[in-house]
Amino acid sequence: MAHWQRTHDCGKININHVGEETVLNGWVNRNRDHGDLVFIDLRDRTGIVQVVIDAGTSPEIMEAARSLRSEFCLSVRGKVRARREGAVNPNIATGEIEIVTEELEILSASKALPFQVSDEAAMEQVDETRRVKYRYIDLRRPKMYQMLALRHKVVTQIREFMNAEDFLEIETPIFTKSTPEGARDYLIPYRLNPGYFYALPQSPQQYKQLLMVGGVERYYQIARCFRDESQRADRQPEFTQLDLEMSFVTQEDILSLVERLITTVIGNVSEKQMLTPFPRLTWDESLRRYGSDKPDIRFGLELVDLSDIVRDSGFSAFDRVLANGGQVKAIRYPNGTKLSRREVDIVAEFCKEFGAAGMANIAVSELSAAGLKSPIAKFFTPEKMEEIVKACEAEVGDLLCIVADTPKTVANVLGRLRLEIGNRLGLRDPNRLYFNFVTDFPLVQWDETEKRWDAEHHPFTMPIEEHLQYFDTDPGRIRAQCYDLVCNGQESGSGSIRIHRADIQSKVFSLLGISEETQRERFGHMLDAFSFGAPPHGGFAPGIDRLIMNLLDEPNIREVMAFPKMGLGHDPMMEAPSLVDDAQLKELGLEVKPHKK
Ligand code: AMO
Repeated sequence: MAHWQRTHDCGKININHVGEETVLNGWVNRNRDHGDLVFIDLRDRTGIVQVVIDAGTSPEIMEAARSLRSEFCLSVRGKVRARREGAVNPNIATGEIEIVTEELEILSASKALPFQVSDEAAMEQVDETRRVKYRYIDLRRPKMYQMLALRHKVVTQIREFMNAEDFLEIETPIFTKSTPEGARDYLIPYRLNPGYFYALPQSPQQYKQLLMVGGVERYYQIARCFRDESQRADRQPEFTQLDLEMSFVTQEDILSLVERLITTVIGNVSEKQMLTPFPRLTWDESLRRYGSDKPDIRFGLELVDLSDIVRDSGFSAFDRVLANGGQVKAIRYPNGTKLSRREVDIVAEFCKEFGAAGMANIAVSELSAAGLKSPIAKFFTPEKMEEIVKACEAEVGDLLCIVADTPKTVANVLGRLRLEIGNRLGLRDPNRLYFNFVTDFPLVQWDETEKRWDAEHHPFTMPIEEHLQYFDTDPGRIRAQCYDLVCNGQESGSGSIRIHRADIQSKVFSLLGISEETQRERFGHMLDAFSFGAPPHGGFAPGIDRLIMNLLDEPNIREVMAFPKMGLGHDPMMEAPSLVDDAQLKELGLEVKPHKK
């Protein structure tokens, strides 16, 4: 063993090691020079230990110790000794001991740092792009290491669970053909035949279905997916899924497997509270009650439909909306009567920002009509007002927030307002992980701009059998055997029973406006495969990054990845994407037009 190789981990040395010889490796977290005494907080991935260089060491070692700066990489040989009384630090695991240095070797010096990793509070203020540019330093923070360790644990648990359930882990190609998951593809030019391109998989969707046709029956993969889509706090251009697929199963089999998987994995890595069995809502019910297809069910405050109560009141804003097939719905804002007029205006502005024409309100200081204050009270009889309050199950102190619009806008606005109220009132308890399933999504949705039907999930999703009849008459009514897993208001995963018959698949493609010629060209392999005894099959794919976000209650996906991309898919550390040599372009048969700003 080289003389500088470690015998102990910094964070694991304790009072039981007193008197032992030790070699430690790590980084200078902080150092303090008291003249004839130098202290170093030496850090490795397991923690921090105090190292002392005192007058007893050689002048060379003392000189080396004085030259140290933050993040120098060191090897220290010395003896473990108990700290004297009064010098014990109860805040760290190694606080009862220190290392008296006998030899010190600087393995590698560090330039002045772009930020101080030892100061967690100061790190909060550091610009994120700078942190990502120097990710290799940022990752030295215990917080980041713990995140990586949690990710590792989750993936290990997933593998153990899936293996025990008799699934095979199978890798599928990264160079492939366009997959229709709804985003743009990343393309790779094919050198040997200019004009031809591979696409990076948006998910292994088609391969996993082809594995089922191949008789594998139970497949999974910790799969990288690539999507050129606009970034959001919970979206990255490259991300990781647990991708799984099973043959000869019903939707119930898949939901039950996913629920066991999630409760086992989460239960083994976290103390957070789950709600079991996972509540299930149909898509229609979820929108009706929560205004969202990814409801946060940690708190109530459900949407209440007032349409029938307020119909024909003479209040033109409501009457007009209802006459056009719209809705009038309300949500309670507990203790909202305490809001100032200005604060109520801000809530109304919030609603307008998301498309509502306005927001009506009723302040409930008593449950009877006399205690109800509202700008719209004049349009309703006292009995009607009381009926509204009763329907909302309002409590004294509530502000009822009412929006009238198309069902889509009402759901969007009140769904968002519900979350906003939840945030303001601290109802979104981070110690809870409330998973739920949303089922029976529409098969297709109408794209008003393109004037065509789009797959709500993806085009391989099996419609509910009884709904096949609506194909030619009312496609918007078709519900699919398709389901999402939701956690705390965020989509965690998604899946479906697949179409395994070429005739139905072709019908769905046609509904999506994909001509027969294009069907052959893009999906001929799928249609062919389905004509060779394809088994009924279905699957699921939870996003692993999102699960880690939920576990850490972290709203920013980049914080749960080792090397994330910043805005516009930019990697400031590698400086990717980057220009390539003309020779490389020529070889690929590509010519780049100068970018016009
Ligand atoms: P879907 O496209 O819904 O389904 O993706 C499944 C899950 O993957 C995660 N996810 C993402 N995570 C981070 N960044 C992104 N850009 C991103 N996009 C998706 C989410 C999402 O719920 N092939 C189907 C699954 C199937 O039908 O089996 C699919 O990929 O957590």
